[in-house]
Amino acid sequence: MLNIKISKLTLQSPLILASGILGVSFHTMKRVMKAGAGAVTSKSIGPQPRKGYKNPSIVEISPGTFINSVGLANPGIEQFCEEIQTLEKIDFPLIASIFGDTEDTYCQIATKMEELGCAAVELNISCPHAEVSSIGIRADLTYSLVKALRGDISIPIFVKLNPNVTDIVDIALAAEKAGADAVVAINTVAAMQIDINTKRPVLSHGSGGLSGKAIHPIAIKKVYDLYKVLKIPIIGCGGIFDYKDVLEFFLAGASSVQIGTALSQGIDIITKIRNDLLIYLKENNYTSITELKGLAHEYQTQEVPDY
Ligand SMILES: Cc1cc2nc3c(=O)[nH]c(=O)nc-3n(C[C@H](O)[C@H](O)[C@H](O)COP(=O)(O)O)c2cc1C
Repeated sequence: MLNIKISKLTLQSPLILASGILGVSFHTMKRVMKAGAGAVTSKSIGPQPRKGYKNPSIVEISPGTFINSVGLANPGIEQFCEEIQTLEKIDFPLIASIFGDTEDTYCQIATKMEELGCAAVELNISCPHAEVSSIGIRADLTYSLVKALRGDISIPIFVKLNPNVTDIVDIALAAEKAGADAVVAINTVAAMQIDINTKRPVLSHGSGGLSGKAIHPIAIKKVYDLYKVLKIPIIGCGGIFDYKDVLEFFLAGASSVQIGTALSQGIDIITKIRNDLLIYLKENNYTSITELKGLAHEYQTQEVPDY
């Protein structure tokens, strides 16, 4: 009922761990899989170890909504491979989120991830508080990067889209044209909070990326818009806390979803969402969650207001 297919990947569950949330330690990834995820996305891994920004780097601004500027803190590709290789074989679909400072470094890291046994790579070209966002705001750079990678690796390429652009569809079409296998929508929304007592931005970096409950309707609209024009699958991401949020993404046109911020409530939330989805599908006589994909597009929306 919950099996889904994205490009070459067949997943037992449409729920994927989003990048940056518990995605560095192999054992934690396995726990997330055991809880009912269909795949796990790693923290974005770059060419070198990187400490990221100083604390405070993440703050909850209202229940379930956070701003973070972790600054792509990660162990670097060599250490990441070591951590994974010294343990058992990867026996679950691991999506390697990667970033680089040049096209060449993206290609080198992607090749290492393929050799490591990763099921797919996800290109982080969209972190709103790090340098890589400059690729994801331009269709020509996105096209060029995906094209270069397509020639170097044979595992599927997912492109994580930046919502902080004038037209997300343009960037997604460039990725599709260059050979991307799927897009992930969305990364965090550029945001800031200022402390009225200290009169300073709360985060050490100043601004950051908004995630969680507040961005869910923004992400739904992006997926809805993307579904109208893309041929490749869309992985919805942003503010999923329960099974209804997942259904909404499917109705907008997603083929699968990623969950990030909600994991702050514990890994068991994945089990709860999975079980609730099964109950919903059974009670409503669906044999597969994919039957819901894009159904919201059957509704004729009003284009011109009444006068
Ligand atoms: C603390 C934190 C760290 C994140 N790190 C990454 C990252 O390394 N790479 C990436 O592509 N997205 C990263 N993200 C974005 C998430 O993967 C996701 O796109 C975003 O949070 C929206 O989903 P959510 O509302 O379910 O959290 C991070 C988000 C948070 C909250």
